[in-house]
Amino acid sequence: MSMPVSTWVEVDLDRFGSNLRRIRELIGDRRGVFLVVKADAYGHGAVEIAEAAAQEGVAVLGVATLHEGIQLRQAGSRLPVVVLSPLLESEIGEAVAHQLEPTVADLEFARALSAAAQQSGRPVRCHVEVDTGMGRTGVRVEGAEEFLAAIDQLPALRLTSLYTHFPDADAADLSFARSQLDLFEALITRLAARGIRPPRIHAANSAGTLNLPESRFDWVRVGLIAYGHRPPHAPVDPALLPVMSFKSRLVQIRDLPAGHPVSYGRTFAGARDSRIGVVPVGYGHGYSWLLSNRGFMQVAGAPVVGRVTMDLTMVDLTDIPAARVGDEVVMFDGAAPPAPSLEEVARWSETLPYEVMCTIGKRVTRIYVRGGRPVKLTSLVGERSEWAERAADHFRLRAHAVAAARRP
Ligand SMILES: Cc1ncc(COP(=O)(O)O)c(C=O)c1O
Repeated sequence: MSMPVSTWVEVDLDRFGSNLRRIRELIGDRRGVFLVVKADAYGHGAVEIAEAAAQEGVAVLGVATLHEGIQLRQAGSRLPVVVLSPLLESEIGEAVAHQLEPTVADLEFARALSAAAQQSGRPVRCHVEVDTGMGRTGVRVEGAEEFLAAIDQLPALRLTSLYTHFPDADAADLSFARSQLDLFEALITRLAARGIRPPRIHAANSAGTLNLPESRFDWVRVGLIAYGHRPPHAPVDPALLPVMSFKSRLVQIRDLPAGHPVSYGRTFAGARDSRIGVVPVGYGHGYSWLLSNRGFMQVAGAPVVGRVTMDLTMVDLTDIPAARVGDEVVMFDGAAPPAPSLEEVARWSETLPYEVMCTIGKRVTRIYVRGGRPVKLTSLVGERSEWAERAADHFRLRAHAVAAARRP
């Protein structure tokens, strides 16, 4: 019995649950968690994350696209699902049919949404984003009062929340975010004077939640910290634990003489006779091409040599003679400090932790872990419950090896 897959992501649901409890502790009982599960819950698997979130008392889920919302409904999620990105009119029918809650920023769209809701016989809950400085979507703060007054008149729309978004609540200087809050609060006051009181107000993303407690309002709209990662310039919170790790196994080990090139472009050739390990992970899995000749993986810190290819990456095992085919290789793991962290891989890839997580594609099996044991595996070829026992063997052997290595 051995590990049934070669390259996988482990998603530790206990850590995820404990992060959510930590967030709820930070924000207090009067506020709710709006969990952002777009981009397949930042690569963790939206269906499984939504299910775990419901168990932890999350109030609302946020997706970016129509199909992400439908996916949650098809999987049986009953939580409110807000679509954060603008939808097109052609998507309204399906959004209404699946009881998704669009963000509206355009009167034409709002009218069409109201008409579709009327036709369906049920009002539709919607949300309005006010652009106080993000410069991406929503209604500009200057026109927001008129817009909200107009959609208030539409018979089948139920304004459920008003929100804004920070472009840099993770900056060292929070003055821009504070000025956004001033604009937002002034708008809320003007709306109240006109009798418009959105039932829920929200602004804080992860960085806002930690760096600007005054931005927490009724809901905090978080992704990153729920998945256990710290926004820049936020206080270190040891209670937030990385949920995802990215692993593989050596599929081949080869002896190459000094000067023998490795991989496309022949960008690496060992100065000495080398043992080169082949890892079945490449940019087609979400392991960036920029990690070529730059990244490290943990088979005792083996450096990536040569170019990362679509499916395979080579590491230099010359100084790690004990390495064997089948050994685990860790691309990143927040729980095991000798292994690279997600943040390191992001830095080596010249990108953000967000991008690294959400570009790990469908060809990578997700192994959901509770109590240190695999409880569910989802793969390109479907969910494979019969694999759980085999994966559990691998986890047990690994735990033994770690314990033995720690023994003095
Ligand atoms: C509108 C909106 N709100 C909240 C978030 C969550 O951000 P974070 O993961 O930094 O908490 C995002 C993510 O990009 C977003 O686009």
